[in-house]
Amino acid sequence: MTEDDIQLVVDARNESRGFLTSQNEITYADGKRYWENFVQAGLIDVFICLRDGVPAGFIDFKRAECNIGIKLLEKYRSGVGRTALELAFRRIRKSEPTKEILADIKNTNTTMLNTAPKCGFELVDADDIHHHWRVPLEFK
Ligand SMILES: CC(C)(COP(=O)(O)OP(=O)(O)OC[C@H]1O[C@@H](n2cnc3c(N)ncnc32)[C@H](O)[C@@H]1OP(=O)(O)O)[C@@H](O)C(=O)NCCC(=O)NCCS
Repeated sequence: MTEDDIQLVVDARNESRGFLTSQNEITYADGKRYWENFVQAGLIDVFICLRDGVPAGFIDFKRAECNIGIKLLEKYRSGVGRTALELAFRRIRKSEPTKEILADIKNTNTTMLNTAPKCGFELVDADDIHHHWRVPLEFK
């Protein structure tokens, strides 16, 4: 990750925080720590999402939990998320062929709830706050 990538992660995450469990605003220093402690350590994979070659946001994949998330900059939303997730699923499938990819989506997040079934997620169950989804192993 370059300095620009870290800034992109910070900006896209801050613009998405209404949809996240932790809604505090983060700084560049927080983003740098995230990179050094989790990404560089191999605990989290980060995929930068491009729209027409321009960085539009990122996908993060927590390896131990097999849990995926996506955060796009507001100005690039619509037309990116579904394709980016499908590409990420294929990449992850190669390194984790025996694990289901999981995601927790807030039940107020209409756009992501619409996106999930279109890119291969299946609904597992739901509680008062989240819907829990998985990408079945058959996804290719
Ligand atoms: C959720 C998110 C990744 C979706 O990416 P996107 O590029 O905006 O969405 P896509 O263009 O790929 O659209 C996928 C589907 O979402 C739905 N959708 C898209 N924009 C929508 C909107 N503004 N309102 C409601 N549904 C919408 C549509 O059903 C669409 O499918 P269609 O084009 O076949 O009709 C993106 O909006 C985002 O980053 N949001 C903020 C962060 C977030 O919520 N992350 C998920 C946390 S679990």
